[in-house]
Amino acid sequence: MSADDHVSVLLTEAVSALAIKPDGIYVDATFGRGGHSREILVRLGAQGRLIALDRDPAAIAAGRAINDDRFVLCHAAFSEIGTVLDELQVGAVDGVLMDIGVSSPQLDEAARGFSFRFDAPLDMRMDTSRGMTAAEWLQQASQQEIERVVRDYGEERFAHAIAKAVVAARVECRIATTGQFAALVEKAVRTREPGQHPATRSFQALRIHINQELEELSLTLPQCVARLAAGGRLVVISFHSLEDRIVKRFMRENAQPPRLPARLPVRAADLPQPVLRLVGKPQYASADEVAANPRARSAVMRIAEKREPCCA
Ligand SMILES: C[S@@+](CC[C@H](N)C(=O)[O-])C[C@H]1O[C@@H](n2cnc3c(N)ncnc32)[C@H](O)[C@@H]1O
Repeated sequence: MSADDHVSVLLTEAVSALAIKPDGIYVDATFGRGGHSREILVRLGAQGRLIALDRDPAAIAAGRAINDDRFVLCHAAFSEIGTVLDELQVGAVDGVLMDIGVSSPQLDEAARGFSFRFDAPLDMRMDTSRGMTAAEWLQQASQQEIERVVRDYGEERFAHAIAKAVVAARVECRIATTGQFAALVEKAVRTREPGQHPATRSFQALRIHINQELEELSLTLPQCVARLAAGGRLVVISFHSLEDRIVKRFMRENAQPPRLPARLPVRAADLPQPVLRLVGKPQYASADEVAANPRARSAVMRIAEKREPCCA
């Protein structure tokens, strides 16, 4: 496998969950290296359409290899899904797939600065065409901000010590590389979790913050639902509990009738009906898939369907 390969997680399960209609319009909001997109195209007929998005210019470059009239690939954050569909003059879609998080090429290419496995510039931007790098942010953020990010997004007990160490170190010299940041965190973290590098949590936290990953997800889910046609499916694969919590809450809340104040004189039958129906239970990768691709270990897939207007 080359550094530009990505093994799609829950490939068959996710594409099957979209319940593809051959002439439907689908969105792959996280193209990556196109594993899911290619499988969607296999299942679409001649009149079907697939619109794919990715914020990473390297993913967009890789997608040029797909030469198919039914397919369009756009360089955009998935929170821009509404604007992208408007520009393409697409109203409703029959399904949206989100396979969120980072791709293997992002993690495995040293120069992207996502991993402490390599010593490289501390970049961590998925979209290398815009925004602040992790090194730039660490240089200018306050100690309190760094502590909050490391604590909230890394669920790191030693967030205070790490933030303090960053602020002390950057007076001497800019924290410009993954190696510098990892060494500094390693010193500040006083206990060791078996099988885990002490900087794992802090790297995750920086990545989530730099790419505004949780905000992106929260902004996108309602847009997906607004764009789904009745019977259309929303399929989301997430890789850590902070993301999965947002997806779970969103789907649950939209699959229940709105809560009204008690004693309001409204009959149950007159209450607005929920917009989504949950489809099945959360799905996880099989033991065989995890054995073949350890990244699949933490994947959780949730599926919801937009209800028909007669009952919405
Ligand atoms: C796990 S990979 C997707 C892999 C893909 N399903 C495949 O089979 O090759 C996640 C991809 O989503 C992209 N991504 C993450 N957050 C994004 C966002 N907010 N907007 C657009 N793309 C995003 C990343 O750049 C990465 O390429």
